[in-house]
Amino acid sequence: MEKAKIPYLVIGAGRAASHLMHYFDLKGIDYINWNRKEHSFQALDECLTQVSDVLLLIRDSAIKEFRDAHLKDFKGVVAHFSGSLNVDGIASFHPLMTFGPEFYDLPFYEKIHFAAASKETFRGLFPQLPNPVFEMKASDKPLYHALCVMSGNFPQILWQSCLARFDELGVPKDAVALYLQKNLENFMEHPGQSLTGPLARNDQITIETNLKALPVRLRSLYEAFVTFFAKD
Ligand SMILES: NC(=O)c1ccc[n+]([C@@H]2O[C@H](COP(=O)([O-])OP(=O)(O)OC[C@H]3O[C@@H](n4cnc5c(N)ncnc54)[C@H](OP(=O)(O)O)[C@@H]3O)[C@@H](O)[C@H]2O)c1
Repeated sequence: MEKAKIPYLVIGAGRAASHLMHYFDLKGIDYINWNRKEHSFQALDECLTQVSDVLLLIRDSAIKEFRDAHLKDFKGVVAHFSGSLNVDGIASFHPLMTFGPEFYDLPFYEKIHFAAASKETFRGLFPQLPNPVFEMKASDKPLYHALCVMSGNFPQILWQSCLARFDELGVPKDAVALYLQKNLENFMEHPGQSLTGPLARNDQITIETNLKALPVRLRSLYEAFVTFFAKD
């Protein structure tokens, strides 16, 4: 009798792959991992005979090339998890989440929404996952992903720079954390009314004072926001 197949081969060992494998561990879902740091290409061929489907969690720019080089003859589903990429013959499921340096807990993983071409394709490939799924057309993915980057990654770039300077001024991290947290909470509760500060009040004198106080790179960002907000 033929041995039952392992459901997934997870390719890669970066942030997203590590979180997905941790989620599978918490759910008791069987998988094997292949990554180029630890395993040979001979081992990859062996892995491919043992699994039903392949999940590619590698750098976006390597996905198509990896499929073409190693998975052309594989008969199961091949999926990637990029928010922006469309590759013929590879299914795509984008978790709308940031995967930080620490793992999350099971209730949190189960809440993460996935963008997919259709809900059925997600449920078909991951019958044991209860995650919410929303549908995203391939042609809308470039804009969708640009919005993910701007709304999720850009604030962190701004925070990195501002927090370093708050630190130099001796402002406690807790004070800044409480301020940022309440900004997000208020925005989520009342998106149209939560903005405060000189731009919301159209206080040109304070805006000028702010601009004069800032180092040059942060000043140019502040100016870009003033211009953007004026057009709003
Ligand atoms: N991180 C997130 O928050 C997040 C969220 C949603 C979706 N994603 C998606 O998840 C995927 C992986 O992203 P990530 O953030 O986990 O990236 P990452 O932490 O930079 O890890 C990238 C992985 O890809 C491997 N890799 C790169 N080029 C390869 C190649 N030519 N052949 C084989 N393996 C290769 C790397 O191996 P080496 O270590 O050997 O270089 C590493 O294991 C991407 O499609 C990304 O869009 C990520």
